[in-house]
Amino acid sequence: MNATVNRQILLVEKPSGKLGPEHFKLTDGSIPEPKDGEALLRVRYISLDAANRAWMHGATYRSAVEANTVMAGGGIAEVVASKSPGLAPGDIVFGDTGWQDYAAIPAKHLTKLPKLEPMTHLLSVYGIAGLTAYFGLLEIGKPKVGETVVVSAAAGSVGSIVGQIAKIKGCHAVGIAGGKDKCHWLTSELGFDAAVDYKDGAVFKALRAAAPKGIDVYFDNVGGDILEACLPQMNNYGRIACCGAISQYDGVPAEHGPRGAPGLIVVKRLIMQGFIVMDFMKERDRALADLQSWVADGKLKVQEDVIKGLENTPKALIGLLAGENRGKRMVRV
Ligand SMILES: NC(=O)c1ccc[n+]([C@@H]2O[C@H](COP(=O)([O-])OP(=O)(O)OC[C@H]3O[C@@H](n4cnc5c(N)ncnc54)[C@H](OP(=O)(O)O)[C@@H]3O)[C@@H](O)[C@H]2O)c1
Repeated sequence: MNATVNRQILLVEKPSGKLGPEHFKLTDGSIPEPKDGEALLRVRYISLDAANRAWMHGATYRSAVEANTVMAGGGIAEVVASKSPGLAPGDIVFGDTGWQDYAAIPAKHLTKLPKLEPMTHLLSVYGIAGLTAYFGLLEIGKPKVGETVVVSAAAGSVGSIVGQIAKIKGCHAVGIAGGKDKCHWLTSELGFDAAVDYKDGAVFKALRAAAPKGIDVYFDNVGGDILEACLPQMNNYGRIACCGAISQYDGVPAEHGPRGAPGLIVVKRLIMQGFIVMDFMKERDRALADLQSWVADGKLKVQEDVIKGLENTPKALIGLLAGENRGKRMVRV
């Protein structure tokens, strides 16, 4: 290994309002020595996730990210040296590498991945995004043939896969996304039956037109006003899969939560359930087999948005929160 410098992006301050480039700093660190049980990794792709911003608020399903530490984030990496019997140089792994060139991580916290091309699919359709869409929709939403499935942040990494799986399962798929172009893309390229541009206002009315038989499954990536617009349009015995709340992650918190809960949940006998994709990891192989066969058959299109250069990672996350991305955004380090 010839490199001597480990470029790292630090979170220098936790934002109190909107996330900006001033909250990050690029610095040169040293390449760590792996300890017993650890592997030294060269990071190849960093996953950009809405949750990166949520971690700045405090502990979630993982501990909070702290100021003046390397920004946390999942990544795909190549093992360059190993002090763990389970890993060897050249192996490809997924782990919480952080925003840096190199990381030394205990092997027990890494997932060894198959070598497949393109490698980027290991972060998108065969990574957290694909598995979240798969388990959240099928295990929590439990869609039946002919039902209406609505998904928010529909042009994003998770949402774009949710809508396509809904179609594969014989449902009427409706996406909610920001902007005419994204909505057109959902229906013309990804096969959604209808799309609602929430930035055009009048979401409730547009949703009524897009889902005329009401909503049986709402896959909620955003919370807030969009959840509020969906609640009254849920059919009796509908299911709401609470995947995330991106409308609450960046900036000042909303003044109130979605109105209509719990009253509408009671009268419509709704099931509203949160989930974390890690809960389903024991069933990962089954999900991957389905996802791989749908991709191979051309039923599931994979959309990736690859930004080049570690130094561009802060800008890439800020842009994702503003809706720049289509499909899975990641940084090639
Ligand atoms: N539960 C789990 O295990 C799990 C796992 C992975 C991800 N997630 C969740 O899944 C959701 C999607 O995350 P992701 O990382 O895949 O991001 P993503 O969907 O690829 O990108 C985020 C998208 O959200 C939309 N958005 C941003 N602000 C919004 C707002 N205020 N209202 C409505 N839409 C907004 C933007 O698109 P527009 O142009 O459409 O606004 C943006 O492109 C997040 O809530 C995340 O926390 C949950």
